[in-house]
Amino acid sequence: MSREHIEFINTHEMSWHEFELPGFSKEMKQKLLSYDTESGASTSIIYFPPGTTNDGGRYSVAIEAMLLTGDLKIAGNKYSDLTHFFIDSGEELRSLTSQNGCELLFMTEGKVELVDKNMNGNDKGIQINNTYELPWQGTITPGFPTGAMRKSLYQNAETGASSWLLGVLPQFKDSRYEIHPVIEEGFQIQGELDTSGGPFKAGSYFWRPSEIPHGDFNTARGCLTFFRTDGPLKTTYVEKEELPIE
Ligand SMILES: [Fe+2]
Repeated sequence: MSREHIEFINTHEMSWHEFELPGFSKEMKQKLLSYDTESGASTSIIYFPPGTTNDGGRYSVAIEAMLLTGDLKIAGNKYSDLTHFFIDSGEELRSLTSQNGCELLFMTEGKVELVDKNMNGNDKGIQINNTYELPWQGTITPGFPTGAMRKSLYQNAETGASSWLLGVLPQFKDSRYEIHPVIEEGFQIQGELDTSGGPFKAGSYFWRPSEIPHGDFNTARGCLTFFRTDGPLKTTYVEKEELPIE
């Protein structure tokens, strides 16, 4: 596989390194979480220093981002924490500013190149969700226990790839393990989920290939998690006793 199975790493324990993105006025900082050596697709935490600007442009690949802390202004509109952005390849990113600096969870589907700086203003525009304003919805997995709800952020009509937030209530518990036919990626925004793979704490991240059993799940105080898959999410549940012995 050209992308390594990562489970779990904690972004708070990682150090920053210098990083540049085409079109941005300042050198930024990055914590690289996951990287595909073939396609250049990546997931990272990036930090825009105060006064970062971008005059706008079109990029070669789709970019998805979640504003974690700080301020960001795009086309004159101000956005704050937990705003979700999806910029499809070739879609116009209008002029951007971060006055006081900000931190983003930043995901690309390949190597990021600026392909066009000319704007025509005709695009439908990038998708921007203030997640605080999105409605909670029931979970979509048949058999998912009561005690969690989701907010849909992005859905690709062709591939079924999707992103969502999952809010889990305190004292949620599921003793089963899950297996998915798709790649699953997650970032813990707040709270903590205990699993047999260790504690999934605030700032923790995983990138998990398909068909890897994971569980069981248990949280004392609840959590809010960002999830992402590369295709339609389906879940097979298995009991611990049914798992192959390692
Ligand atoms: Fe899962």
